[in-house]
Amino acid sequence: MPKMRLHIIFLLLFCRFGTGISLTADQFKVDGKVLELDESNFDSAISSFDFILVDFYAQGRPWGHCKHLSPQLDEAAPVLAGLKEPIVIAKVNADKFTRLASKHDVDAYPTLKLFIHGVSMEYYGPRQSDRLVQYLKKFVAPNVSILTSDSAISGFIKEAGTFFPIFIGFGLNETVLSNLAVKYKKRAWFSVTKDFSSEAMVLYDLEKVPALVVIHPNYKQQSIFYGPFEDKFLEDFIKQNFLPPVVPLNHETLKLLKDEERKIVLTITADENEDQSQNLIKLLKDAASANHDLVFGYFGLKQWEDFADKFEANEKTKLPKMIVWNGDEEYFSVIGIESLGDEDQGSRISQFLEGYRQGRTEKKTVKVPLFMGLFKSLVGIGAFFIIFIVVAMMIMMIVLMVIISKDNEPLTNDSHDKVGHAKSSEAENNQHRLEKKED
Ligand SMILES: *[C@@H]1O[C@H](CO)[C@@H](O)[C@H](O)[C@H]1NC(C)=O
Ligand SMILES: *[C@@H]1O[C@H](CO)[C@@H](O)[C@H](O)[C@H]1NC(C)=O
Repeated sequence: MPKMRLHIIFLLLFCRFGTGISLTADQFKVDGKVLELDESNFDSAISSFDFILVDFYAQGRPWGHCKHLSPQLDEAAPVLAGLKEPIVIAKVNADKFTRLASKHDVDAYPTLKLFIHGVSMEYYGPRQSDRLVQYLKKFVAPNVSILTSDSAISGFIKEAGTFFPIFIGFGLNETVLSNLAVKYKKRAWFSVTKDFSSEAMVLYDLEKVPALVVIHPNYKQQSIFYGPFEDKFLEDFIKQNFLPPVVPLNHETLKLLKDEERKIVLTITADENEDQSQNLIKLLKDAASANHDLVFGYFGLKQWEDFADKFEANEKTKLPKMIVWNGDEEYFSVIGIESLGDEDQGSRISQFLEGYRQGRTEKKTVKVPLFMGLFKSLVGIGAFFIIFIVVAMMIMMIVLMVIISKDNEPLTNDSHDKVGHAKSSEAENNQHRLEKKED
């Protein structure tokens, strides 16, 4: 026995010594391979590298999602390690190191987390190696890039890729943008240029300078701001342009809308690819440029029937239909403008917005809770079920104990009863809340 204890103490000492060593950064070889992290070296890896992307994976899950990701990460790792400001890729076996996973709020696999100077953020970007590399380059780029020629501008746009909006200040000093560029570094590219030709002004549709242009490469849209270049106005413009003026709605863009504070003017067309819809989208862009306090979104019934159903739009509805949605469970229709009709849709849109602003609206609730709402209630219901089952089992055990103790020790009855009572009323409460959640 004492011998064994000695072993354990020795082992513990050794472990302590081990973690002592791992506090030095050179324990990690930066050779472009994916680092395998565990509880002993996780924290030191996070503090050793300014930029590190961690893949929390589950070994041997049958659905193989993680298996597809791993080779992509292997491919991306050497490229990212070779950047001027290197990004390290690491992985953690979350099945084995469950404590580590739960400490970092990992509850789905694989989960990717990007740690920037030790601060973590969830990675929602693409998972295919070349696209992943391009996406991550954003995080190691200069806060504000200084562009010195027309070709530098077009080169910058090309390099930036399509994941983030690109802000370019024409004739602006970088100090005007620098604070906001740091604040919103994770959401957009920022640059300024003082050297550009008149052709560039035509190309980017500029009437005058200074101007701040934002390009949404993924949506082929852009907006221009001519000032005033003061903090409040500038920040509003930047915040309102992380999304394009008119957002085509799908599962991906819906996620982006999650962070949106503005209300969403939602247009449901019959088929978003029809010519008529394309015309309507142009009108929506005009409306968006005059109503910066609202986001405009559209989708086709044909493309996304389930989503249309939440707003009571189906084959029998007269489309296109416009509503104002709060991004959650509430939406408004404008009384008298149930459909935009086929004729003169531009003025119908104006009438709709006027009606909305004047409060001639009818408030409605979406049919089922939407994304976050749905997500929350699913998690909520799941948690309630677990609590409910646990409580039910405890009651059963207590009842059993009471029955047994009745035979043996009648004196302990009283206290058990009280516990049993408290638990069952708690269970009732849970049951009640559960029912409320469901309806
Ligand atoms: C961006 O700005 C922050 C804060 O001023 C600074 O700490 C950081 O080094 C800058 N990053 C780059 C890449 O210049
Ligand atoms: C931007 O303005 C600052 C002072 O506000 C100045 O020191 C700096 O040289 C300017 N930058 C450029 C590139 O002109």
